[in-house]
Amino acid sequence: LEPTSLLSSITFITYITFVTPPTVIRTSLHDRILHLTFARAEKKNALNSAMYEALTQALIDAEGNSDVHAVLFDAEGDTFTAGNDLSEFAAVASGALHPSELQAVKFLDVLTRGTKPYVAAVQGAAVGIGTTLLLHCDLVYVAQDARLSTPFANLALVPEAGSSVLLPARIGHVRACAMFALGESIDGRTAASLGLVNEAVPASELGPRALAAAKALASKPIGALQATKKLMRDADAIRAIMAREVEVFGERLKTVEARQAFEAFAKRSVR
Ligand code: COA
Repeated sequence: LEPTSLLSSITFITYITFVTPPTVIRTSLHDRILHLTFARAEKKNALNSAMYEALTQALIDAEGNSDVHAVLFDAEGDTFTAGNDLSEFAAVASGALHPSELQAVKFLDVLTRGTKPYVAAVQGAAVGIGTTLLLHCDLVYVAQDARLSTPFANLALVPEAGSSVLLPARIGHVRACAMFALGESIDGRTAASLGLVNEAVPASELGPRALAAAKALASKPIGALQATKKLMRDADAIRAIMAREVEVFGERLKTVEARQAFEAFAKRSVR
């Protein structure tokens, strides 16, 4: 190998390693099912801007692609997602980032407008948007030992993704309040018994169970599925709720108590 070509190989590998952003959402299309996989396991799949942007674009593409009959959200590693990346919330709290730059808002808008059926497979912790995302999915399967939580008050925040209305509507006001205000989590079995998810299965059966459901959906007439989804969900009403939440959430992010909560997480004193 010539020294110059050796040098250019090293430069290329360095570029690939340090400049190319890592893939944080894996996408693949098989059997008319678009798989959207959270792939940031080393950070418990905490959702950052790059992930929201990739998810948003994938959902927009899915709408325009007649080969996509169902979308399946799942995750690599032991955690569905630890929720929003708290370092990005901390950046808003410190003034380094404007709330409008948070990509979660765009993602939730596109998710809410979506007309294709959404399926989710949830293992481990599903924190914050990890749980509120499920309120927008049409079929949800969880591991029996999954832990669903929405500890917004612990972080001095408020519910998002329409969950301030959607979660109480699904599981009742007092249970939703215990999740939002007390930070109580519920396990997969409880989530199934409350009607928050379709089924809780042993962790080893989660992937095959969710995939079988997605395949069953994808085999149905897509027009009927889209018309059914439209009848079952008032997307405009949900977007109006989200607009109210976004306003309050943005105000909360700038409070001293929120900044203190994010600092505490960064120092690992919050658990
Ligand atoms: N934002 C940014 N980074 C996060 C994160 C989040 N929401 N959740 C986890 N991480 C990171 C940790 O900082 C840690 O990074 P490091 O290895 O560089 O220190 C890594 O992911 C592993 O997390 P760790 O806390 O060590 O794993 P755990 O198994 O002990 O606990 C959780 C997992 C999900 C219970 C815990 O990470 C947690 O409570 N995260 C915050 C959840 C949250 O409040 N989300 C916001 C909801 S609105």
